[in-house]
Amino acid sequence: MARRIIVTGGAGYIGSHVCVELLRAGGKALVIDNFANSSPKALERIRDIAGAGAELLRADLADANDAARIIDAVKAFRPDGAVHLAGLKAVGESVAEPVRYYSVNLPATFTLIRALEAANARMIVFSSSATVYGDLNASPVDETGAVGPTNPYGRTKLFIEEMLNDLARADARWKICNLRYFNPVGADPSGRIGEDPNGVPNNLFPFIAQVAVGRLPRLKIYGDDYPTRDGTGVRDYIHVCDLAAGHVAALDYLAREKAPGAQCFNLGAGKGISVLEAIAAFKRASNRDIPHEIAPRRAGDIAEIYAKPDRAQKLLGWRATRTLDDMCADHWRWQSENPNGYQD
Ligand code: WQD
Repeated sequence: MARRIIVTGGAGYIGSHVCVELLRAGGKALVIDNFANSSPKALERIRDIAGAGAELLRADLADANDAARIIDAVKAFRPDGAVHLAGLKAVGESVAEPVRYYSVNLPATFTLIRALEAANARMIVFSSSATVYGDLNASPVDETGAVGPTNPYGRTKLFIEEMLNDLARADARWKICNLRYFNPVGADPSGRIGEDPNGVPNNLFPFIAQVAVGRLPRLKIYGDDYPTRDGTGVRDYIHVCDLAAGHVAALDYLAREKAPGAQCFNLGAGKGISVLEAIAAFKRASNRDIPHEIAPRRAGDIAEIYAKPDRAQKLLGWRATRTLDDMCADHWRWQSENPNGYQD
């Protein structure tokens, strides 16, 4: 089984949950993180809840000056492969600063590939995103859906997927899983790790959680005139612990398959939830009011998207099991016990 894993971005929201899942499965991790959008505190919390199996290399994969140091550390760790999450990930920011997104997300991947080749560990589970589908497919969307990202962030994800596909076609020793995340929410039930976005949250759940805990006054619902059951946007929310389990399942799949090449999987719960339904569920979980108002649609938003996750179930033996109420209860426990995230 693949158990010695490089986790780039391992101090981040998804990354910290992947590290916990990996450690709980008996694995070891080398986290490579520059803390641009994460906190060193997360590593202490990972140790609290899952033991001391995650080492840290503080480095910037996108900085050419760090490449030699990264390659040496990766070789010394003797990994089986990597989970690659490090990168810039704000859709709106990517529209304003496209070159910054390309000059971080792509070079970070090149350095990781070079390091894994030097370590003879040609296995990558890549953090991709359902944003690659754009607004081109009726839901539920499966992996054969047309791709057409509508923002530079989504394009970096698709470009990296295609680059990894080409790498696997050129050299059959490479084993790749491109995991297209739908909307990760929630937190480890311990309440010790969770989502801690820089500044005012762009995404719905962290925004709702900060309203519930009193950090923000009210939520703006971006449009209630979409062609959906209640007029608000519909998304496939997936518990971050289910998502983390999907990464370990993908690593195990690559370890057992002789020549899988590059495979792509939708990681979603397979259910569409509207903004109003998410608000109602969070109110139930937190027993707090969530003041909100209807605002104009947000540029770039689509009405509805949710996954057909059958391929992951069939090939990885994985499916999401946690409910929307679980997601809200766990997200609320993290937010209420850490009102200011890791700054507390
Ligand atoms: C969800 C719904 C909004 C905020 C993005 C990226 C995706 C991934 C997840 C990185 C939509 C509505 C939101 C608010 C609102 N990011 N909303 N008020 O846009 O589906 O996906 O984040 O990996 O790649 O594309 O997520 O949480 O921003 O929006 O009404 O203050 O909530 O309109 O319908 P999204 P989101």
